[in-house]
Amino acid sequence: MRTQPPARQPNPYRPGFNQAPLVFAGRTEVLDAANEALEVAAFDGRTPRPLILVGPRGVGKTVTLGEISHAAAEQHSWPTVHVEAKRADLIGELTARLRAARELFEGNTPDTPKRARVTGAKVQASVLGIGGGVEVSRTADTSQDTLNDVLRSVMTAAMARNAGLLVTLDELQNASAAELHELGGVLQETVPENWPLVIAIAALPSLREKRGSQLPTYLERAEWHPLDSLPGPDAREALTGPAEQSGRPMDQEAADLLIAQTGGYPYAIQVAGHFAWRASHGNGRIAAEHAAAAGPRIAADLEQLFLSRWEDASNRERDYLAALAVAESTIAEPNGGQVADVMHEKTRSVSYLRDRLIKKGTIYRSGSGGLHFITPGMGAWVRLHTAD
Ligand SMILES: Nc1ncnc2c1ncn2[C@@H]1O[C@H](COP(=O)(O)OP(=O)(O)O)[C@@H](O)[C@H]1O
Ligand SMILES: [Mg+2]
Repeated sequence: MRTQPPARQPNPYRPGFNQAPLVFAGRTEVLDAANEALEVAAFDGRTPRPLILVGPRGVGKTVTLGEISHAAAEQHSWPTVHVEAKRADLIGELTARLRAARELFEGNTPDTPKRARVTGAKVQASVLGIGGGVEVSRTADTSQDTLNDVLRSVMTAAMARNAGLLVTLDELQNASAAELHELGGVLQETVPENWPLVIAIAALPSLREKRGSQLPTYLERAEWHPLDSLPGPDAREALTGPAEQSGRPMDQEAADLLIAQTGGYPYAIQVAGHFAWRASHGNGRIAAEHAAAAGPRIAADLEQLFLSRWEDASNRERDYLAALAVAESTIAEPNGGQVADVMHEKTRSVSYLRDRLIKKGTIYRSGSGGLHFITPGMGAWVRLHTAD
């Protein structure tokens, strides 16, 4: 008699950007703030300040927006209008999606049955702009309504249904100064209306660079929430939770090894879990040997992230990256002057490299002026890569 191979269990990890994790760990401060904003808007009849999540790539800004969207649907039966800012036409996209939300509230979306009520369950399938929701057809727009007009009419329709609206704007660092001002101006005008409207934004730290003349006051005065790697206990929960829930728990020793390799960086946690799960195929637990076996796979996957940034840099920009990598190994938060020192150059003569790399989203400047790689772990990789 032949033994059957063990049934294939689906991998419970979600390596990759914009992939909601099976277990969403931590971020309680942001989620509490978002719940508070939703309650203020839903029950107190005041429009709260927008929330802005800023942080490096892969720390979980997009999935946190998704969690806020869940909270809006589950606790208030509010739908979400989600827009990712591309290189152009943020205002046009947002206007089109708001128009679709108005149709949803008015109950005459072509692909929504008339009787559909805006209830929690229904709303979940109606996260506008995130796949599976109501289709938005830009070409079908014939009206010339401005963002202002559409926002007013969608909120009127929402309130007629005793509902409200969450608007999530992702990758806002891609918006131009003109778009940010137009957006800020329109949203600013809504504040005295006391609409049940909550705005949650996510962006790379370069959005902070625009503070001052480029960023409208409305956004300056927002509630800024910096996101970074997950602290120890949250990182552990994110790593071990999915395995546990899927009936193949992870040994502590395995978790220790993997946590050390990821540094608590959420993107890396999902990658690490994914390969450790694979390496433990056919076993009842994920043990240290599986974590060790997965190590090179995990490293190779993360290396792709660094490599794509590196290949995107010119030779001079690479010199700057190499100098930053050296500087950050001895100084916690090297500034432009300290990086220039490593290059034996004057700060002024290499600042254009710094500016270009910030613009490309390879490095960023923190609030205190220190320079960092946007992808955690890249400094160590650059040092290794440029050692000779
Ligand atoms: N709080 C968290 N708990 C578990 N996994 C997370 C968490 N935040 C992010 N992740 C995972 O990290 C990866 C990157 O998330 P994403 O939202 O795309 O990052 P960002 O938008 O900041 O670039 C995804 O695989 C996601 O599942
Ligand atoms: Mg994102």
